[in-house]
Amino acid sequence: MATNITFHPGNVSYDERAELLSQRGATIWLTGLSASGKSTIATALEQHLLHQHKAAFRLDGDNIRFGLNKDLGFSPKDREENIRRISEVALLFASSTTLTITSFISPYKADRDFAREIHKKQDLPFIEVFVDASLEECERRDPKGLYKKAKAGEIKEFTGISAPYEAPENAEIHIDADKTSVEDSVKIITEYLISKGYLTVA
Ligand code: ADX
Repeated sequence: MATNITFHPGNVSYDERAELLSQRGATIWLTGLSASGKSTIATALEQHLLHQHKAAFRLDGDNIRFGLNKDLGFSPKDREENIRRISEVALLFASSTTLTITSFISPYKADRDFAREIHKKQDLPFIEVFVDASLEECERRDPKGLYKKAKAGEIKEFTGISAPYEAPENAEIHIDADKTSVEDSVKIITEYLISKGYLTVA
């Protein structure tokens, strides 16, 4: 534990930064089973926002585990630490006025609530998006063959098979990912951001 540390605030407030950069930050938190389509929606949403000349950036579960979180596995404790770190990183990005898109299974409600709480404390929007694909559909897609391996017992603690997924009950956005196209998913999220005024600076 670090002791004898002092928080050093910047000279530019969040509002001044937003004004100067003509952009406000937010975290768009995608949660759902592996193969539910989180990363695909995240990449399409990032592309769409960038084409609107918005600073948008994606933090992806698989990708982050190649670097920052390469020391973590899939035990409940490691997943908690994975989400804790990403919650803090997303908060930093959002406070830099970036539209931050996270795509992590984030199976535990308490961990997602932690992410929500720290954003709330800094008055930064946190939008939980439940990418709700049924287990049957994810198993049918199985793009990386992981469900097959998990069912054969070759991967332990696999979400949906041998590890839990606690579905959100009050997500800001619920996408029926069995039936909704990527384009429509991006549209649903973008329309929500517009309706809440999150894409404007005023
Ligand atoms: S989380 O549960 O800690 O939020 P995260 O989103 O970072 O998971 O990583 C999930 C990705 O890791 C999956 O899409 C899959 O490709 C891979 N993976 C490997 N092992 C597991 C496992 N045991 N459970 C879930 N996903 C796994």
